[in-house]
Amino acid sequence: MSLASLRKEYQQASLSETDVAADPIQQFGIWFQQALKADASEANAMSLSTVSAAGRPSSRIVLIKDFDQRGFCWFTNYNSAKGHDLEANPYGAA
Ligand SMILES: Cc1cc2nc3c(=O)[nH]c(=O)nc-3n(C[C@H](O)[C@H](O)[C@H](O)COP(=O)(O)O)c2cc1C
Repeated sequence: MSLASLRKEYQQASLSETDVAADPIQQFGIWFQQALKADASEANAMSLSTVSAAGRPSSRIVLIKDFDQRGFCWFTNYNSAKGHDLEANPYGAA
């Protein structure tokens, strides 16, 4: 089997600026409901990127436990690498 022939079609919907909510949190809620309805695996998984004190970026997966207009809530250990990164560089997270 050729890896190049592996391809999944994503043709359920298009994405246009006119289709999305002006409020990004509201739009996230719409997409999250769609992901739940589609029975997506780990629908509340998100990618969290941080930057260390030395400027080295890294990313990992965390699970969203709640979200509202203040942002996204997830749990972790303060002594983890991401915990140290956020302490040193709180505005480097995305
Ligand atoms: C599906 C999935 C969900 C995860 N959820 C969390 C989470 O909610 N919180 C967390 O600290 N780590 C979670 N992890 C583990 C992190 O991705 C990461 O490996 C770990 O927290 C150590 O990261 P760090 O050393 O960069 O701080 C999850 C991993 C996977 C694969």
